Amino acid sequence: MILTVANTKGGVGKTTLSVNIAAARALAGRDVWLLDGDRQATAQSAMTIRAQQVGNLFGLAYANYHDGSLLKAQLQLQAEKFDDVVIDVGGRDSTSLRAALLLSDAVLIPVQPRSFDVWALSDMTSLIAEVRKIREGLRCFAVLNFADPGASKDNIEAAAAIADFPELEYLPTPLGRRKAFATAASLGKSVLELHPKDAKAIKELNSLLKALF
Ligand SMILES: Nc1ncnc2c1ncn2[C@@H]1O[C@H](COP(=O)(O)OP(=O)(O)OP(=O)(O)O)[C@@H](O)[C@H]1O
Ligand SMILES: [Mg+2]
Repeated sequence: MILTVANTKGGVGKTTLSVNIAAARALAGRDVWLLDGDRQATAQSAMTIRAQQVGNLFGLAYANYHDGSLLKAQLQLQAEKFDDVVIDVGGRDSTSLRAALLLSDAVLIPVQPRSFDVWALSDMTSLIAEVRKIREGLRCFAVLNFADPGASKDNIEAAAAIADFPELEYLPTPLGRRKAFATAASLGKSVLELHPKDAKAIKELNSLLKALF
């Protein structure tokens, strides 16, 4: 499966989720390619840090192509060699975002449960509608990241607002604001590998993976 983690809004947790998802899938025995489509190359930097500190994770390859045509060409050449491809893109409309969407099976859109973030989703849904004219069957999931604990008013309102976008499937598997997600991703890991363990973060990531794959 080719999964792009995207949102034209910046700082919503795309790179954090991409690294957590890719590393967790590799840990589960899949051959995974983590593709960094962002000029800032944060995902790739995290993987490089991991390689230097504790070594590469078996089954997790990575590369950075921020140019859309290069990303497209490399995906067409190499995606079939992997069980899963996870693509992280920058927080803006870009050639790499469009190339990734056109070749993906699914897109995961992390959303903060705050009004400005929900309003900004219409940019992403317009883009999705455009891409679907060419890439029929592209599945689009939205998930809350930085969710408040429990069933907060903001969580509930954001979930309801997401459900109003016909282009999106809301995944009821929110990820809380947890240091473990950030720490793990910055080390090129998923929360499944962190010590000490954060049981809540692990449960949330596993629920998201189950909903996605
Ligand atoms: N669930 C979370 N809990 C706590 N911190 C988080 C969580 N998700 C992301 N973060 C932190 O929030 C910040 C933004 O996350 P991240 O860099 O993944 O966002 P992004 O969408 O990739 O940003 P950009 O649009 O710049 O690429 C980072 O400092 C990251 O560590
Ligand atoms: Mg990022």
